[in-house]
Amino acid sequence: MSKGMQWFRKKASKTDPGWQSQRSDEDSQSGLQSLTSTPYMLPKDFREMSRLDFQHYFMRQVMSGNYLAPLSQPRAVLDVACGTGRWMHEMALQFPQAQVVGVDVTLLSNEDFQKFPPNCSFRQCDILRGLPFAEQTFDFCHQRFLIFAVPFTSWPAILQEQIRITRSKGWIELTDSDLQFHNPGPETVKALQWISLACEQRGMDVRIGRKLGALIQTAGLMNVTVRRFSIPIGTWGGRIGDILAKNFSGALTTLKPLVTTLAHVSEEEFGRAADTWLKECNVYQTSCDFYVVFGQRP
Ligand SMILES: C[S@@+](CC[C@H](N)C(=O)[O-])C[C@H]1O[C@@H](n2cnc3c(N)ncnc32)[C@H](O)[C@@H]1O
Repeated sequence: MSKGMQWFRKKASKTDPGWQSQRSDEDSQSGLQSLTSTPYMLPKDFREMSRLDFQHYFMRQVMSGNYLAPLSQPRAVLDVACGTGRWMHEMALQFPQAQVVGVDVTLLSNEDFQKFPPNCSFRQCDILRGLPFAEQTFDFCHQRFLIFAVPFTSWPAILQEQIRITRSKGWIELTDSDLQFHNPGPETVKALQWISLACEQRGMDVRIGRKLGALIQTAGLMNVTVRRFSIPIGTWGGRIGDILAKNFSGALTTLKPLVTTLAHVSEEEFGRAADTWLKECNVYQTSCDFYVVFGQRP
């Protein structure tokens, strides 16, 4: 067990793998609902949910698919902190024989849930307190974009928990961004410094992307592969650069209230940097790295 993290384990056994309930008792007919307070830095409003879907399509295009690990025919797939469930939905269609389970601190609305294929299910849980599944339940455990959700000191324990619930020879894949941009202009540097400062206040590391490979090596996974995707930001990078710029603009808007509070910067100053950085990215030819790492449980 890691320091600084409270763990809980729902009792799960081989006969109750832990995904049987589609919904928790706290289910709601009327929209999104959060379980507990977590250090997560982004809001869960509808604008942010649309951004997450947009970001999903961006990442699928970058990777030319939804995963990189050499899967054959997984029977059980877990998406850790599944957000809107877009990734799960597509995986469930691609692998109709598999149970595809998503966990998140926030539930989907019932209306959204109805749109998922029958081999999808959800559990509400706080991943900083453990994963409510039996040992060796999943063939593939996937986790993406938790840079603003998992404090740096919690990453090793999060990974150990994923290893626990992944079957021997099963795969774990992590995807995250690295917010140390290449060739940033002066306003971009300012905005990134404020975001970095705010992240530090919450214990998050804006350079987590480049550390994922070392983290899964240290955790003891085999056949580790690290892929870095360096993506231009802005129209200078063509369509994909334009999509990434729009995604970052959306993220800056959603991060603004928290960053201005935690980094003690005025909304006007932050707004100025946020308005200028995109133009700058085209002038300075700024780019950003995304990392996808995967490894196999011994
Ligand atoms: C940036 S979104 C990424 C969602 C999804 N993985 C994707 O790639 O679209 C981060 C997600 O983590 C969830 N989250 C944050 N902290 C969490 C926690 N402690 N336990 C479970 N989920 C958490 C949020 O509710 C949100 O859905």
